Amino acid sequence: MVKILAIGKGTQDVFLRSDEFDPHTRGKKVYTEIPLGLKMEVDDVTFSTGGNATNVATTLARQGIETAYMWGLGEDPASQSILHELDREGVDTRHVVQDPHYQSGYSVIMIATNGERTILNHRGNAFGRSGRHNFNLSAIEGYDWIYPTSLGHGGLKLLREIIDAAERYGASVMLNPAGPELAEKDKLIPLLETVDVLITNKEEMQQLVSGKTCEELALHALNYVPVAIVSDGPNGVVATDGKTIVRAGMYEDVPVVDRTGAGDAFASGFLSQWARGKSLKDSIIFASANSTSVVTKIGAKAGILRRGVHLHDMPISEKPIAR
Ligand SMILES: Nc1ncnc2c1ncn2[C@@H]1O[C@H](COP(=O)(O)OP(=O)(O)OP(=O)(O)O)[C@@H](O)[C@H]1O
Ligand SMILES: [Mg+2]
Repeated sequence: MVKILAIGKGTQDVFLRSDEFDPHTRGKKVYTEIPLGLKMEVDDVTFSTGGNATNVATTLARQGIETAYMWGLGEDPASQSILHELDREGVDTRHVVQDPHYQSGYSVIMIATNGERTILNHRGNAFGRSGRHNFNLSAIEGYDWIYPTSLGHGGLKLLREIIDAAERYGASVMLNPAGPELAEKDKLIPLLETVDVLITNKEEMQQLVSGKTCEELALHALNYVPVAIVSDGPNGVVATDGKTIVRAGMYEDVPVVDRTGAGDAFASGFLSQWARGKSLKDSIIFASANSTSVVTKIGAKAGILRRGVHLHDMPISEKPIAR
């Protein structure tokens, strides 16, 4: 069985939904500015756990992959609820370093009526006062894939350590770099040499390579990695493994309730299939179905697909790359 380790932040997410969070509201300022001193009623509160790595681990576990999670968590109620949820999903948490001085992340997410959101975020503390991690990276030995995410402030040094360990132990790496990593492009690019699957959205890939379209971006990314995937929200996605290029549209035109976790569901959905030898095209179909399902539910995990779910056709094409 394939074994995958996800590494990165865990958060407690609290979602507030209100009909007042309406980007189309005329004459009210509630959506664009919340005035200081305002007391506002909200319609629904939903508690859920998040953090890219716990979302990724949940897709992998629900797809029957032997999945583990590594990060630093505290003894605060939010840390407990993250651990509890991972246990319930069957994710192995033995590599979590728990310390009373650590704290999980915490986010309050205000969901607008069109599914977009505004986030108030505390990143938590997974390192204690020393600022140094206490993870046992030799635990990477024995995993087939490593999925490092959102390592936070100064995360590139840790990312380098993780990727070096993955190389040492022969684990493949999937990477979905975001703001903090992309901000240090000169340090990120050399790391890509050891990355097997690179996935970003279109704007993020434009920070790494040149190109206007997703096609151009994905092909240029092949200079660094063997598999490159560029997503563009409801406009679809382009993926290439250097042999063929897959272009996919929208899996289904669904009402978007909350787009939190769309990127995680897509990336982990892909890996859950690719890691067990499915084709590029089939892996993209599942990734699309998984992320589309996630945006129909509040929270990053509620819509994650379970094993054996029926998939329908979607607009998708695959062509050999002319070299
Ligand atoms: N409005 C939508 N309707 C249907 N599917 C969607 C929608 N938005 C996103 N998706 C699905 O989610 C995938 C990833 O979305 P997107 O390209 O926006 O990633 P992202 O910007 O990395 O997201 P995130 O903000 O979660 O990191 C898309 O390729 C698509 O399959
Ligand atoms: Mg993303």
